[in-house]
Amino acid sequence: MGRIISIASGKGGTGKTTTTANLAIALGDKGQKVCAIDADLTMANLSLVMGIEDANITIHDVLAGEADIKDAVYSTSYENVTLIPASVDWEHVLKADPRKLPEVIKSLKNEFDFILIDCPAGLQMDAMNAMLSGEEVVLVTNPEISCITDTMKVGIILRKAGLAVLGFVFNRYGRSKNDIPPEAAEEVMEIPLLAVIPEDPAVRKATLEGIPVVKHRPNSPAAKAFVKLADEIIRIAGFKARVMY
Ligand SMILES: Nc1ncnc2c1ncn2[C@@H]1O[C@H](COP(=O)(O)OP(=O)(O)OP(=O)(O)O)[C@@H](O)[C@H]1O
Ligand SMILES: [Mg+2]
Repeated sequence: MGRIISIASGKGGTGKTTTTANLAIALGDKGQKVCAIDADLTMANLSLVMGIEDANITIHDVLAGEADIKDAVYSTSYENVTLIPASVDWEHVLKADPRKLPEVIKSLKNEFDFILIDCPAGLQMDAMNAMLSGEEVVLVTNPEISCITDTMKVGIILRKAGLAVLGFVFNRYGRSKNDIPPEAAEEVMEIPLLAVIPEDPAVRKATLEGIPVVKHRPNSPAAKAFVKLADEIIRIAGFKARVMY
């Protein structure tokens, strides 16, 4: 049975979309059948990061009741990885009903080993609908105290809502000498540290090319850290699955 994991954060710009794309590809490389979903309905950019531009049917059409979710699943050039893109035009946004997201996404549960949901930041309705579509959550934070506390807040709310909080990804570490160390963040967050992803210029270069860093620069520090994250997710997801369900 597939695992549905929301990729979420408190503040925007922490690296949720980057994590979704790279984790999806790293899991696919390990033989897992993956579907990455762009659930950031107003600021969609997962397709761009994953290099898919000409999708006809999107999650918005499904949420507007005009298409079946299975027709919005696109294969990618990455082994075992499919993608459900989102539209970027406002007309599509207006027609889509975000409240349908959980039901639509959960209908895919048996089709994949992992469904990764790229969520909007924060706790507004759009973000809540996306995050609550998952059964587990991976939080993404940066090494700054306000970012950590905002992400904690999201984690607490999602746990109360019944999601299994797998832990957090500590992204963009090493950008500043004032960065909170990973161990201190783990102590504050009181959830497992899943991976430390260093600040790495290769990530942005990869994004510009539309090829996530795990494929664009597989030997870069960030790429290696994303592959380690995939190992950890496989290990923890299996463990949690046995404990929880
Ligand atoms: N480890 C990293 N090193 C360097 N740059 C990074 C790293 N992770 C992410 N970035 C860059 O940070 C920016 C924000 O990343 P991303 O779009 O993944 O964040 P997000 O959480 O999805 O943002 P939003 O909340 O707006 O959806 C991007 O330009 C991305 O290339
Ligand atoms: Mg994003």
